[in-house]
Amino acid sequence: MNQYIHSSVKLGKNVEIGHNVVILKNVIIGDNCLIGHNVVVHAGSEIGESVRIDDNTIIGKKPLSSPRSIFKVPDNLEPARIGSFCQIGAFVAIYAQCTLGERNLVADLATIRENVVIGNLNIIGRNVTIENYCRIGSRNKFETNCYITAYSIVGDYCFVAPCVATSNDNYMARDKTRFDYFKGITMEDGARIGVHATILPGKTIKRDGTVAAASVVSRDVQEATIVLGSPAKAFRAVPEAQLLKNNMDKET
Ligand SMILES: CC(C)(COP(=O)(O)OP(=O)(O)OC[C@H]1O[C@@H](n2cnc3c(N)ncnc32)[C@H](O)[C@@H]1OP(=O)(O)O)[C@@H](O)C(=O)NCCC(=O)NCCS
Repeated sequence: MNQYIHSSVKLGKNVEIGHNVVILKNVIIGDNCLIGHNVVVHAGSEIGESVRIDDNTIIGKKPLSSPRSIFKVPDNLEPARIGSFCQIGAFVAIYAQCTLGERNLVADLATIRENVVIGNLNIIGRNVTIENYCRIGSRNKFETNCYITAYSIVGDYCFVAPCVATSNDNYMARDKTRFDYFKGITMEDGARIGVHATILPGKTIKRDGTVAAASVVSRDVQEATIVLGSPAKAFRAVPEAQLLKNNMDKET
């Protein structure tokens, strides 16, 4: 089989590896992993046990940097770490210095940038982008095509519907003042965002706060309140049956 596996790589027991796979220096792969065809695992990456990685996925990718990029990429990024029992789809890019906990599902075509920390049991849907320096808790759902802007913070049990857009630069790349105000969004535990909504820079959706479909959030969303419209205004309280305290799943 045509593969390149560096001699320093530590492979666990019962690991299956597809055609054209490249596994670089000092990578560690735990027992019972399934690595698809054309997968590239960059130097030093650590993959737990029973992880499935589908065809054409890249783990530990180094970020690109344009001379015009506002943030310079550090040259000493740490390797990527993927926790045990994660399932990573096809054509996924997980960058260097990105840490995923256990039992996350990352669907096809998703991109998770450098300096991102992700907890356990999240569902990261097809073609989702999670930009750099995000901190994501556990048991969240990010649905197809949603965009999580850099420097965002997401708690636990949050829900982000398809095609949601979030933003971090109110000055839209003009005026140095913008660096003082550059800020991602914050979702407290149980916050939810409906399909195709837009969240403006630095806004917080408080615990159980809910954004109606297609709304534009220009003010913080208060706890357990549904907001709606453009600009989004309080619509009504989140029904009791939908509050996070009544919807915690405990299975692992
Ligand atoms: C906000 C929401 C929860 C309200 O649901 P609801 O309480 O059942 O509300 P109703 O359907 O009874 O609508 C009440 C009114 O608000 C309007 N409305 C509902 N959702 C709206 C929205 N997103 N934007 C603008 N107006 C909306 C309705 O047209 C209706 O107006 P009317 O009384 O003048 O006819 C729901 O409409 C919504 O946006 N859900 C999100 C769906 C979603 O994104 N799911 C993601 C998984 S795919």
